[in-house]
Amino acid sequence: NGSAGKAGKSRNILEKMDETGKNCVVFYGSQTGTAEDYASRLAKEGSSRFGLKAMTADLEDYEYENLDQFPEDKVAMFVLATYGEGEPTDNAVEFYEFIGGEDVSFSEKSAEETPLSTLQYVAFGLGNNTYEHYNSMVRNVSKYLDRLGAKRIGEAGEGDDGAGTMEEDFLSWKEPMWAALASAMNLEEREAIYEPVFEITEKPDMDASDDTVYLGEPNKNHLEGHSKGPYNAHNPYIAPIAESKEIFTDKTRNCLHMEIDVAGSNLSYTTGDHIAIWPTNAGKEVDRFINILGLTEKRHMVITVKGLDATAKVPFPSPTTYDAVVRYHMEICAPMSRQFVSQLAQFAPNDAIKAEMTKIGEDKDVFSEQIAEKNYNLAQFLEYMSNGEKWEKIPFSIFIEALHKIQPRYYSISSSSLVQKDKISVTAIVESIEKPGAPHVVKGVTTNYLLALKQKQHGDPHPDPHGLDYAITGPRNKYDGIHVPVHVRHSNFKLPSDPAKPIIMVGPGTGVAPFRGFVQERAQQAQNGENVGKTILFFGCRRKSEDFLYADEWKQYADDMGDKFELVTAFSRDGPDKVYVQHRLRERAEEINKLLEQKAYFYVCGDAANMAREVNEILAQIISDQRGVPKQKGEEIVKAMRASNQYQEDVWS
Ligand code: 2AM
Repeated sequence: NGSAGKAGKSRNILEKMDETGKNCVVFYGSQTGTAEDYASRLAKEGSSRFGLKAMTADLEDYEYENLDQFPEDKVAMFVLATYGEGEPTDNAVEFYEFIGGEDVSFSEKSAEETPLSTLQYVAFGLGNNTYEHYNSMVRNVSKYLDRLGAKRIGEAGEGDDGAGTMEEDFLSWKEPMWAALASAMNLEEREAIYEPVFEITEKPDMDASDDTVYLGEPNKNHLEGHSKGPYNAHNPYIAPIAESKEIFTDKTRNCLHMEIDVAGSNLSYTTGDHIAIWPTNAGKEVDRFINILGLTEKRHMVITVKGLDATAKVPFPSPTTYDAVVRYHMEICAPMSRQFVSQLAQFAPNDAIKAEMTKIGEDKDVFSEQIAEKNYNLAQFLEYMSNGEKWEKIPFSIFIEALHKIQPRYYSISSSSLVQKDKISVTAIVESIEKPGAPHVVKGVTTNYLLALKQKQHGDPHPDPHGLDYAITGPRNKYDGIHVPVHVRHSNFKLPSDPAKPIIMVGPGTGVAPFRGFVQERAQQAQNGENVGKTILFFGCRRKSEDFLYADEWKQYADDMGDKFELVTAFSRDGPDKVYVQHRLRERAEEINKLLEQKAYFYVCGDAANMAREVNEILAQIISDQRGVPKQKGEEIVKAMRASNQYQEDVWS
């Protein structure tokens, strides 16, 4: 992670707090940015409501040996996401290992039983209850800190993304926490006055077309037109799209297949990895946002943005323009949050709207009914509240603080690196969510961006059916042809190193993506004369004639692999009864159990909330039935398979 160990930067948190006059540090363990976001919100609220001098801190930027000297009159906050199978996020690995270590040793009080007795802390975790190790990061870190004598203020909060209640969990955790903290630290609550964290300076003398102005380029090399590697989460490769097509015959849904050319980039992947796609906001939503804020005239005004505080990081490079910030850097299409409603009330165009906003912000049910149910994003919400009247009083800084920085989205790569090492396949259904009663259709930001790229590449006579109008090649048009910014993330979802081992794959819908890569790889190995083990794929979709992904390719692989490859299909809407992949697994209980006894690897990819959980259950049942052991024993066996990587998941919700 590029922010680690910058030359000359102090890794001593106490020193840093002293230097900058802080009495509150909000540490975050974040993978996709949500925990970081919550950390900023806590720091901000602590400052504006309680007069705390708060900073946020990336866990990987500091050392922890001197936490035993943490002053009693200060507070540490921990906002910790749990990642994957109960793991710490990448930036929290070192901290987690340190604090949970058997003989964790501090610089001064290592021999003491309670070296952290002067440390008071609060903690909130971000987790997902569809995973087994729900919120294990916050649970374990609290346990470790308590064991070391630290004093927790309030409860350790737990947010649940699985139930979709993360935001509400956070809001209902933080009020009692603030009350407890205010009493522990003798803080007095005051009426929150907004103090901007960023200063925006307009540069009317500059021209947006000047080649020093950032128009979406993520860093200086990109701006100067000679981007160079390594390409990673801070520096995307602008990859040519070699091929794009739609692979559904279904008229109401789109499924994209794309080949992304990474030749010459030094980006490498192995089968089962993920590709990150860096999206751009839809033009229509950018326009809406700019318009409702009354920024239309100034949208291409050059601005510089700087942090008003030494610890405030501007999340994009400047000079830039309002338009570019909104289009390329802020997650403007995310659902509106209740806290943000409260925060924006003070900037309402008139008192009636202000009162209405305050009411909505305070009441969970009113918010849910009037706002959440309608799927409003920020600009749609503002339009609705003011009936189109402009919101000119909102300082732009607040958006940089409160809106999520736009994040790359990860897709399971659907090709084999053995077969096409320089071309990465992506398989994605274009998302569009309509809710009864919701005035707007929610369009998936990234998949609709990809669809627009495909339409552009094919010179589609009716492109952009939803009027999304993406800034496709960027305003400077530096590249010929159609490109998309990407990087690769390595995963642990891997074929057994010995191709002779049998594998069982379960991937309905686009969950089949990585398995196309797996099967491609094994077919190639078979062609190369290697001994390839049994390879069974359970695939499910609605109808054979509608959304049967790669229907023709599977036949080719079967030719290449002979009886080693078998595709088992479950078409859920072709017959009178729903047939799912789980039903097919059950029908083959005996064979599956045999293969597992021969140490077959078992893979599941796709929907986490229902499918993956049900597959897990069915497998436990199969094992229990076939081996004549109690159900609970079957479950334990599946657990052990997971622990030893014989059972692997690549799931999403
Ligand atoms: P359905 O939409 O007809 O219910 C790919 O999305 C396939 O997965 C579809 O055939 C879909 O069926 C099916 N599916 C839906 N819920 C599922 C579940 N809980 N387990 C397995 N497959 C499921």
